[in-house]
Amino acid sequence: MLLRQHNVVLEGVTPLGAIVRLRPITEGDWPYLEKWNSDPEVLYFSEGNDIKSWSPEEVRSIYRTVSQHAFRFIIEYQGKPVGECWLQEMNLEEINAKYPRQDVRRTQIMIDEKNYWGMGIGSTAIRLLTEFAFISQGVDLIYIPGIADYNTRSMTAFQKTGF
Ligand SMILES: CC(C)(COP(=O)(O)OP(=O)(O)OC[C@H]1O[C@@H](n2cnc3c(N)ncnc32)[C@H](O)[C@@H]1OP(=O)(O)O)[C@@H](O)C(=O)NCCC(=O)NCCS
Repeated sequence: MLLRQHNVVLEGVTPLGAIVRLRPITEGDWPYLEKWNSDPEVLYFSEGNDIKSWSPEEVRSIYRTVSQHAFRFIIEYQGKPVGECWLQEMNLEEINAKYPRQDVRRTQIMIDEKNYWGMGIGSTAIRLLTEFAFISQGVDLIYIPGIADYNTRSMTAFQKTGF
């Protein structure tokens, strides 16, 4: 099984006028994804305390599996890949049970290049992904499954975007 392909490209501008582009993740992106998924600091914020690193095999398996039910994107800042985000069909039973007959999705984002944190890239990408979900996909509800209580940067980025 390979990554499910899609052809959605979303483009926006940060408050400082830099271009943020969300383009489909591809099988050519493994060098970035493997590097990013072995950074304990990024994983501390996205996965919690337990995961220090994913192996290359785990990375490919996880990404390919999730991509079957998601739009997965690489986030480019001024043309440089700096992170990733995705919009995924809801797969948590308790959430689907709570919102029957509604199109509920879950989302996640990582700016994996840490030098690029706090530059407005994350909130710009969240806005693009959210507009895509509600306007193009007709989604009813987007759910973020858990932001760690110590992750104020993430909370701020989502709150700024209207969550
Ligand atoms: C969370 C993340 C996606 C946010 O993206 P980003 O590009 O850094 O965020 P933005 O610059 O758009 O917005 C961050 C906001 O938090 C604020 N902020 C930055 N550091 C902060 C801190 N330590 N505490 C509180 N707020 C902080 C910024 O000032 C900014 O708000 P402002 O624009 O009103 O000033 C990114 O930092 C990241 O990938 N972190 C590691 C992985 C992660 O946490 N993923 C999310 C898991 S739920």
